[in-house]
Amino acid sequence: MATHPEPVIRAATSQDIESITGVHVAAFGGPSEANLVAALTAQCATLISLVALVDSVIVGHILFSPVRVEPATDVSVWGLAPMAVHPAKQGCGIGAGLVHSGIATCRDNAVEALVVLGHQDYYPRFGFCPASEFGLGCTYDVPPQAFMALELQARALREVAGVVHYHPVFAEL
Ligand SMILES: CC(C)(COP(=O)(O)OP(=O)(O)OC[C@H]1O[C@@H](n2cnc3c(N)ncnc32)[C@H](O)[C@@H]1OP(=O)(O)O)[C@@H](O)C(=O)NCCC(=O)NCCS
Repeated sequence: MATHPEPVIRAATSQDIESITGVHVAAFGGPSEANLVAALTAQCATLISLVALVDSVIVGHILFSPVRVEPATDVSVWGLAPMAVHPAKQGCGIGAGLVHSGIATCRDNAVEALVVLGHQDYYPRFGFCPASEFGLGCTYDVPPQAFMALELQARALREVAGVVHYHPVFAEL
């Protein structure tokens, strides 16, 4: 059975932006998500940004940013987006490592719940379920199962319902 080198996962620094850009462009086949990362990094004061390295090379990146729920809530809800693993390194568990480390880092930073708009066959393995089960929707016209949520603290979303708005730079994607 093939074995994969264990990636090192750490917080991203300002020195990493070029490598992070390269990973997103390669994974998504265009610059939109890399531009989103750059814009969020420039405009959003609080972010959780992690990189995965194999042999000291950045091969994966995950970003979390605060979202706004309308009607407003005191519960700290953040969005996971975007995330990418270089195509040459996909399918080796690097994405899973980034999600697990990201969830742990969010918890350490008192984030109470996460949302993600993404592959409905991928994120449930980390505990995400349709956000509609919590009474949450988003501003995008997507199948309901594609917008998911995860409580990082027990029952964090029990009194939260409404529409999730990502940072305004997402509208430029
Ligand atoms: C999605 C992504 C980050 C996963 O990273 P990864 O390192 O390949 O993930 P892992 O090795 O941890 O997991 C691989 C699993 O992801 C699944 N997966 C990858 N892309 C998927 C997709 N588009 N839809 C559903 N599942 C997907 C694989 O089928 C595989 O499933 P398995 O474990 O049941 O075999 C990576 O494929 C990627 O960068 N894709 C392009 C960019 C993208 O779509 N980003 C996510 C936006 S929501």
